[in-house]
Amino acid sequence: MKLPAKGIPEDELFKRLEAFRAHDVQWRDGRTLAYVYDIGEQVEAIAKRAYTMYLTENALDPTVFPSATQLENQLVALAVSHLRGGPEVVGNFTSGGTESIMLAVKTARDYARATRGITAPELIVPVTAHAAFHKAAHYLGIKIVVTPVDTTTYKADVAAMRAAVTDNTILLVGSAVSYPQCVVDPIAEIGQLALERGLLFHVDGCMGGFLLPYFRRLGADIPDFDLSVPGVTSISMDYHKYGFTPKGASIVLHRDAALRKHQIFAFARWYGYPIVNTAVQSAKSVGPMAAAWAVLHHIGDDGYLEIARTLLDATRRVKAGITATEGLALVGDSEMNLIAFTADSDDVDPFLLIDELRARGWCTHPQLRFEGAPANIHLAVNPKFTSQVDAFLKDLGEATEAVRGRKPGELVSQLIGMVSGMIEGAGGAGASFELDADTFGQLLAMAGVEVGGSLEESSTINAILDALPPGLREQALTLYFNALFVPPRD
Ligand SMILES: Cc1ncc(COP(=O)(O)O)c(C=O)c1O
Repeated sequence: MKLPAKGIPEDELFKRLEAFRAHDVQWRDGRTLAYVYDIGEQVEAIAKRAYTMYLTENALDPTVFPSATQLENQLVALAVSHLRGGPEVVGNFTSGGTESIMLAVKTARDYARATRGITAPELIVPVTAHAAFHKAAHYLGIKIVVTPVDTTTYKADVAAMRAAVTDNTILLVGSAVSYPQCVVDPIAEIGQLALERGLLFHVDGCMGGFLLPYFRRLGADIPDFDLSVPGVTSISMDYHKYGFTPKGASIVLHRDAALRKHQIFAFARWYGYPIVNTAVQSAKSVGPMAAAWAVLHHIGDDGYLEIARTLLDATRRVKAGITATEGLALVGDSEMNLIAFTADSDDVDPFLLIDELRARGWCTHPQLRFEGAPANIHLAVNPKFTSQVDAFLKDLGEATEAVRGRKPGELVSQLIGMVSGMIEGAGGAGASFELDADTFGQLLAMAGVEVGGSLEESSTINAILDALPPGLREQALTLYFNALFVPPRD
């Protein structure tokens, strides 16, 4: 593929850009219950205007673009007061939850190295902590120690975390809320453990940090989870989730500048300009900050409280509707507006149900079984969905009846049987079985999956992934992406 010999006129360009999204999910109708946090076109227009106003400004150098520093410091100040931090608290703007988490873990690693001489750092996370902590540990060369959660409440087992602490522990983690079941870990208890053992403690408030305080103001029973809890030393919160700002907006806060110092990377030993970065990204558009600033100030505190009221009410209705549907059951008792549910009998297959819902226009998120948790369906109750709860529950009831008694097809069992045979041939599930690209290609062909094809019916793939050991799921997904991201070669 080459650049066009002559530039393409504007109209034609936008026609072509529009064509790229022909097969995207139609999220504007509020039936996409994951991936997007849409608050409507009026706020979107403000976000776009602010974003494009600062599109080209570069947050690389605060001496050249003081506007970027001002916007960032104000966005951090809003987060500090929202999360009840004291006057010593500092923080930074990042591109998202993953970057905030990466920075919190890097800060802990470098702080432990500097203050305790730790060279083989260990990070303790409950099994419900977001995968971003595993990614951070992987990128930063840190051993991650995973502790169980209570299999009824899905909250961190603090005794297990206590037992996992060693002389090399650098950081404890708790979530408010966790993504999979949307519950708040026992933050106060983990904080006590951190204080007793002189450890740092990060609260992942990426999903819940912004909305939970509003839910509490509306009378929901939300436990304390923020910087007011003794022992919490850092916290992350995403504006680009329930602050409804465009993607690329998150905050990481630290208890004080002495700790945050370890987040900053400075380098002056090369032929070029001296580098100093607070985040992973270096040169970056000021657009996401400007858009976040504009949206937060436009909606305002009373606006968010009203949004939270609608979400809380709709979430309660959806939870009640799921519980009342024969054969379905909640997984954990969600404390925010994300809900996980599954079938409480073998009669209803969750993956077939996801496809039935998709056929009725509802896009939900599958979660695979893992250790004590069953395969389940995850959905977010977002603003445009709140007026469609009755329609959803009606469709959910009909979809459940449609799949009741149905099993994943013969093909699924055949494929699972084949893969199990291969694993056994290589010495069983515990052995390091390596899936090669050719075998994977054959399996995909048998399953009728075309790389890059649309997945209107995903139950076959989900059922197969669900049956595989997690290590093999990871290999299969890696091979799929390795095949998917191949440039057009014409
Ligand atoms: C609890 C939690 N932490 C971290 C993240 C990662 O955030 P991002 O996707 O913005 O990197 C998510 C994403 O959903 C989350 O739910």
